[in-house]
Amino acid sequence: MAARLIDGIALSKLLRLNIAERAARLTVAGKQPGLAVILVGENQASQVYVRNKVKACEENGIYSILDRQPASISESELLERIAALNADPRIHGILVQLPLPTHIDSHKVIEAIAPAKDVDGFHMISAGALMTGNHGFKPCTPYGVMKMLVHIGTPLRGAHAVVIGRSNIVGKPMAMLLLQESATVTICHSATRDLGALTRQADIVVAAVGKRNVLTADMVKPGAVVIDVGMNRNDEGKLCGDVDFEGVKEVAGWITPVPGGVGPMTITMLLMNTIKSAEGA
Ligand code: GUN
Repeated sequence: MAARLIDGIALSKLLRLNIAERAARLTVAGKQPGLAVILVGENQASQVYVRNKVKACEENGIYSILDRQPASISESELLERIAALNADPRIHGILVQLPLPTHIDSHKVIEAIAPAKDVDGFHMISAGALMTGNHGFKPCTPYGVMKMLVHIGTPLRGAHAVVIGRSNIVGKPMAMLLLQESATVTICHSATRDLGALTRQADIVVAAVGKRNVLTADMVKPGAVVIDVGMNRNDEGKLCGDVDFEGVKEVAGWITPVPGGVGPMTITMLLMNTIKSAEGA
């Protein structure tokens, strides 16, 4: 194996020490940070994600509430619930786990969260702040990826970064964060012609499409940094990313594993955003 592993569990542990310390300091000052997680319906994957988020809060001294709502909840009832949490002084961060049932307009729900409590960074105010280089909450997954890149000392200024995927949650904010650090950024997606021709030029590749084997060894420049945001299941039901790990690890300089790469970092940055929100409150 040529590539070195970027260990998201180890880096998370390190960052969570700082988070727990800051949470303890806030608690002593009578301002324990608090996160509200709203889960609508019974989506299996969402239940696991939400459980992990609440557990991480408990382990690091952050107060949390898990607000479980039936899939039958109406949009207006959900908006009322968010309004109550917006006004709750114990709560510094509000997260509505996506996806929501189809009768609910996710956009409307996200926009109902007070921007000051938008620790997911999905509100238009947060997205606009990121776009314009202003202060705001950064979406947790791309924020975690940036922490990983900085941690391993990847030069970002002038580097060519290729982001595969254009979602509002990962692809688009990822590109903005890399651009902010003066990388040259190419965003690729399902209509991109000859993806490999672009990724082979990249010093950094971030794969975030949710499809197995989007990036294979022949598509990677020797020594490149490869970040895998994917969360898929292979034919045996095992968790795997978007990158053909076995092949790409022989070519890349650095690579994130799945599991144990970006996943834990997403939760860590959620905790970090909640702490920042409480510190600013
Ligand atoms: N669904 C998948 N990823 C996320 C995330 O980061 N936040 C929320 N709220 N929902 C998600």
